[in-house]
Amino acid sequence: MTQRTALLYRPLAFFATLLSFTATAAAASATGTFEPTQVSATPNRGAGLQAFAQIERVLSHPRCLNCHVPDAPLQGDFKRVHYPPVQRGLDGRGVAPLQCATCHSTQNSPLANAPPGLETDGKPGWHMPPAHMKMSWLGLSGPALCKVFRDPKTNGARSLAMLEEHMATDHLVLWAWEPGPGRQLPPIDKPSFDEQVRTWIRNGAPCNSSEPLRTSAGRTRAALNADFAKSLRVVSNSGVLTNQTPARSQP
Ligand code: HEC
Ligand code: HEC
Repeated sequence: MTQRTALLYRPLAFFATLLSFTATAAAASATGTFEPTQVSATPNRGAGLQAFAQIERVLSHPRCLNCHVPDAPLQGDFKRVHYPPVQRGLDGRGVAPLQCATCHSTQNSPLANAPPGLETDGKPGWHMPPAHMKMSWLGLSGPALCKVFRDPKTNGARSLAMLEEHMATDHLVLWAWEPGPGRQLPPIDKPSFDEQVRTWIRNGAPCNSSEPLRTSAGRTRAALNADFAKSLRVVSNSGVLTNQTPARSQP
């Protein structure tokens, strides 16, 4: 290699190192250092309800609510209808030619009133919940909002543990505290928000003053996946996945 080509390659090598470094970092978090909060043996409903009131202030803030709506997304600090008009589409990524990624790139624009952006697996990751589960909180408050947020039938099949992990680590949630220029931040900072989520779960995740408290936070996604892998191994060891068809008894 001539010195000239060596020089040309040096930035590439640096870039490769950087890539492998970020890949390791991502893998470390993907294998799960996240430890879900357990429900206390002596939950305090009042403390749980107080914590939810703080969580609600964040959920109904435009930085979260603008995507958690029944129809098209909203914009800005006053929850105005998105301009230009766009549609959710089946998967929440828009309808051609106005897919979200057409304008929302892999990062925030440095300019105010320009589309914000973020990255998922190297691609533009900006989208809203899908049409089959809109996860809309618009117009809801108190127990009604709490139930949509907590119920696996309306929250994307999430246990309390999965909800906690989503709030602690999801990049769309994190974006709300780094929304780019000209946008208000949610009313409490991220560490305080995470603490309120833990307090709510520790105290049985109450939504009102009478229903029974939750006694378990349920499984994390990682625990579910591990169980699934284990049952696959059991099935493959049993021979069902090979050609050894088990002898059938005639009816
Ligand atoms: C850019 C749009 C966008 C923004 C902004 C956004 N979300 Fe979401 N949110 C989504 C999408 C998409 C999903 C569905 C993810 C899935 O299930 O695959 C989701 C799902 C959720 C869920 C699980 C569903 C439920 O109802 O319990 C929670 C909780 C949540 N988001 C919290 C927040 C919070 C808190 C904020 C603000 C701090 C926020 N989101 C901001 C797009 C957004
Ligand atoms: C034609 C370009 C364009 C397309 C396509 C587009 N957006 Fe936007 N979007 C914008 C612009 C510009 C802004 C910033 C407006 C501002 O801050 O004044 C914005 C802002 C937003 C915001 C508000 C963020 C906040 O809290 O301030 C949300 C939510 C949003 N878009 C969701 C979507 C979704 C979901 C899609 C796909 C279904 C989409 N957008 C498609 C241009 C676009």
